[in-house]
Amino acid sequence: MSNASIKKLATKYIMNTYGERDIALVRGEGCYVYDADGKRYLDFLGGLGVNCLGHCHPKVVETIKRQAETLIHVSNLYYIETQVRAAQLLVENSFADKVFFCNSGGEANEGVLKLIRKHAKDKVDPNRTDIIVFKDSFHGRTLATVTATRQPKYHVGFAPMMPGFKEAVFNDLNSVNALIDDKTAGILIEPIQGEGGINNPEPGFLEGLRKLADENQLLLAFDEVHTGCGRTGSFMGYQTFGVEPDIVALAKSLGGGVPIGAFMAKASVAEVLGPGTHAATFGGNPLVTAVCETVLTTILEEDLPGNARRMGEYFAASLLKLGEKYDNVAGVRGKGLILGIQFKEDPGPVTHDVIDRGLLTYKMANNTLRFHPPLNVESTHIDEAVGILDSSLAKHAG
Ligand SMILES: Cc1ncc(COP(=O)(O)O)c(C=O)c1O
Repeated sequence: MSNASIKKLATKYIMNTYGERDIALVRGEGCYVYDADGKRYLDFLGGLGVNCLGHCHPKVVETIKRQAETLIHVSNLYYIETQVRAAQLLVENSFADKVFFCNSGGEANEGVLKLIRKHAKDKVDPNRTDIIVFKDSFHGRTLATVTATRQPKYHVGFAPMMPGFKEAVFNDLNSVNALIDDKTAGILIEPIQGEGGINNPEPGFLEGLRKLADENQLLLAFDEVHTGCGRTGSFMGYQTFGVEPDIVALAKSLGGGVPIGAFMAKASVAEVLGPGTHAATFGGNPLVTAVCETVLTTILEEDLPGNARRMGEYFAASLLKLGEKYDNVAGVRGKGLILGIQFKEDPGPVTHDVIDRGLLTYKMANNTLRFHPPLNVESTHIDEAVGILDSSLAKHAG
């Protein structure tokens, strides 16, 4: 099938939530993907930060084949060996003692919200039900997580939203302090706001949240769906910033492309979720957790967080050089391999032109083109991406 014929059928059969587009991706290898017409793209969108080992990594492919021939799905009414091993890797390389597996980032955050409330009810004060979240955050599309997502465009048409959320301002500790009262149970925050424009925490901000949480008996939860599993230059984003949360939500890179999410916590927090309190039919099934184990092992054994740190610095420096050349570049945002080039004004045709030239990226609301290449990306790929951007900017912004 061609791009056009796939688009025609999609228009007929698929709900239009993602809008119209012209490309159908059908094959991938490493940092590259190919569309149905055979055109090759350097994939720096990485399935929105999911393909941490690139496309069709041999170890992932081998694991899927092996596990598919062994056991694909069983119920959590029985123990699952691959799930246990994936959890062990997460626990042995983080602050957490216990893990719950689910299927997506939204579902992971949904579990985090339930855990914060249940912890307050069982261990602090049953009247504490409110959770502080942040302007421009993104936590998912279920009714609770889209309420926690403080971008009004995602709320339109879905009222009434869920009760129990209060909105503070990212990087403003006073705004958080002002919201804390005898109904507050916890704080949910992305250590780097991704979807909201790639906003880095200012020095002291996450430390300040930790202090406020401790002083007021609140749980501090980090949504690391995007920042987790190596992307910021450490295994977990919180390690990059040196601030330990009470709960972490994961997804995206956790499965390297298979749908999986998780949340994890210290035993003293996790213990409030006893038998029957939370579940997911597919959560942590043998197929996805076998892949998760392979992905995490590869990230750790090959020091891919280190590569993300080094390549992130190289990429950021290369983007900054474009800033010296073109007036419309406002700066570079992000950390590790969550990066964006921000423009002073809408970069207009550049957004589509770079894709036509074979570089996959995506423009966010604050005039930023975002990049999340695989964690094993090499400097030659970065040179290629920057070269494409350079040519496009020379044509349209020079
Ligand atoms: C920080 C963050 N949290 C949660 C989500 C939602 O994840 P999912 O789309 O897997 O439900 C996303 C997705 O982009 C995200 O970036």
